[in-house]
Amino acid sequence: MAKLAVLITLLAILGPVACQDTSVCFNGWLRVLNPASCPRGSRNNFFTRQRRPAPSGPGLSYGYYNNRGSFCPRAEGIVRNAVKAAVDQNPGIGAGLIRLFFHDCFVRGCDGSVLLTTTNTGNADTEREGPPNKNSLRGFEVIDTAKAAIEAACPGVVSCADIVAFAARDASAILSNGNIRIRVPAGRYDGRESFANETDQLPGPFSNLTQLQDTFSAKGLTSDEMVTLSGAHTIGRARCQFFNGRFADMDPALAAKLTAQCNGNDDTNVNQDDVTPNVLDSQYYQNVIDKKVLFNSDAVLNSSETIAQVTQNANGGGAWERKFERAMENMGKIGVKARTDTGAEIRRVCWKVNSA
Ligand code: HEM
Ligand SMILES: *[C@@H]1O[C@H](CO)[C@@H](O)[C@H](O)[C@H]1NC(C)=O
Ligand SMILES: *[C@@H]1O[C@H](CO)[C@@H](O)[C@H](O)[C@H]1NC(C)=O
Ligand SMILES: *[C@@H]1O[C@H](CO)[C@@H](O)[C@H](O)[C@H]1NC(C)=O
Repeated sequence: MAKLAVLITLLAILGPVACQDTSVCFNGWLRVLNPASCPRGSRNNFFTRQRRPAPSGPGLSYGYYNNRGSFCPRAEGIVRNAVKAAVDQNPGIGAGLIRLFFHDCFVRGCDGSVLLTTTNTGNADTEREGPPNKNSLRGFEVIDTAKAAIEAACPGVVSCADIVAFAARDASAILSNGNIRIRVPAGRYDGRESFANETDQLPGPFSNLTQLQDTFSAKGLTSDEMVTLSGAHTIGRARCQFFNGRFADMDPALAAKLTAQCNGNDDTNVNQDDVTPNVLDSQYYQNVIDKKVLFNSDAVLNSSETIAQVTQNANGGGAWERKFERAMENMGKIGVKARTDTGAEIRRVCWKVNSA
């Protein structure tokens, strides 16, 4: 009884202090007042010491849709036209398509699982409902438009996973004014499952450097590739909830501007790169140096382990662009499914599995 009284007294003293302290869960995506309110089964630093070999992309080849057995030579042109039409209207969709590819590949491999609303298991909470994706991912309608045109030209041949990869390449080319030309081997098959709770395999804005490195190495990507791919935050948008605790650590002029834009609203979107918001260039790295990045996960690249690479990338001259091309190609090899894998198919409609 005495112990209980001491405990209650202690909690009474510590309670208010503990409540002001926030903790982070879901691998750097959620800030909560109490770790107990983290979603059930959600992980935080799950990937520590999970080192995977570099992805090899078995079965992928360049010009795959020119081959007999997978013949659809118009496929890549159809995707390019759909992406161009959409990005001409709204460059943000191009950012969305590049991110869609990343979020597809990091969860169940590049298998189009991020697109599904209707799966084999029949669960309603697909990847699209996960914290990194809900009310955030965009560009789905571009994939659906391209898929419809491709099915009309050559039904049952071209996977949704490949369409996502082609679209990310084309968006990168357009938003970089032709400076970034990613080579995309194809031949991915589509998966039949998608679970919201697996999106904790994506790194989050509150992640620290160790978590970023671990999350990438769990997919067979290096710390260098993590730094290189983070440069994609030179385009697109972000919601205030992911950076409104960091104004004091930012360039004061930018912090003032963002504070006004956010105006206390967690869901307001702002440009990620205040300097060149719609150009896929190396400006991101200068922003890291200038404290003009939004997330903790961006700011931590100013660490002794990664600052040399940040400085090199900031210096321009095309070095970052070449590294980005290679890293995107490599990311597209994560966990690819082949025809003979169980549950692999060429989906007819990208948001639902066949026979569902
Ligand atoms: C390194 C770890 C990464 C973290 C923690 C991270 C986190 C985020 C967050 C929190 C947002 C804003 C989402 C919102 O507010 O709705 C975002 C946006 C974005 N991310 Fe990342 N990201 C990472 C890596 C990447 C990579 C590897 C790519 C692509 C190669 C990428 C491309 C993008 C793009 C293009 C946007 C803007 C999307 C849009 O405007 O629709 N990110 N990211
Ligand atoms: C993840 O979600 C699926 C389907 O909603 C569920 O069956 C599974 O138990 C969940 N896993 C964890 C670890 O919570
Ligand atoms: C990074 O975050 C993880 C998970 O919260 C924590 O265990 C680890 O100590 C942190 N590492 C650093 C270097 O801050
Ligand atoms: C980067 O880290 C150094 C050393 O910790 C620190 O002095 C500097 O202010 C940091 N710069 C940025 C841009 O965060």
